[in-house]
Amino acid sequence: MKKIAPSILSADFSNLAQQIRYVEIAGADIIHCDIMDGKFVPNITFGPVVVKAVRKVTKLPIDVHLMIKDPDNFIEDFINAGANYISVHQEEVVHLNRTIAKIKELGAKAGVVLNPSTPVNTLSEILEFVDFVLIMSVNPGFGGQKFIESTLNKISELAKIREEKKLNFEIEIDGGISAQNINKVANAGCDIFVAGSSIFGQDNISAAATELKNLISL
Ligand code: DX5
Ligand code: ZN
Repeated sequence: MKKIAPSILSADFSNLAQQIRYVEIAGADIIHCDIMDGKFVPNITFGPVVVKAVRKVTKLPIDVHLMIKDPDNFIEDFINAGANYISVHQEEVVHLNRTIAKIKELGAKAGVVLNPSTPVNTLSEILEFVDFVLIMSVNPGFGGQKFIESTLNKISELAKIREEKKLNFEIEIDGGISAQNINKVANAGCDIFVAGSSIFGQDNISAAATELKNLISL
């Protein structure tokens, strides 16, 4: 089943509980949390304290996207705070096999993320171990950026490898997803669609989330 994962990066944090309820009513499947440290990416967001607060107000799975230096040091904290999915960037983690194993041992789904300039073939030795692969379709750090078209090829390439090797990781996309492009990403083989500004940046958050959900359910 294809899933919508609203990213709270674009939400109104003074009203976070209510904003999460809006997307829940609309049928959102996962809540995506962007963790930024001002070092791996040029922006700072929030840490486990906020993830814990999100945990208190929703039963939906929480997807924690770690855009931080040395993510290994924080995996346990985020899982204790309530994260169900944890992803780390291929570009940052040296002992990726060990990190993926650690996330799984701690009971979360383990994912690896690729920046737009990192090719899919860098994942050849890790694909059999991951629960999901997150393809960045913008350079990480900010919401509201333009979808990079060439990432569509990365989704198709990954879907093809998954089929050929009979693997069953999920494919997630993050960045610039909207009602205008979600269909072609779905057709390329994507399963989980992160959307920030095209949901929380809209006047009617529930309606925006429902529209995306309907488009991938066609
Ligand atoms: C960007 C983050 C995204 C961001 C997406 O670095 O990883 O999750 O929230 O925002 P939109 O959907 O506005 O591109
Ligand atoms: Zn993200």
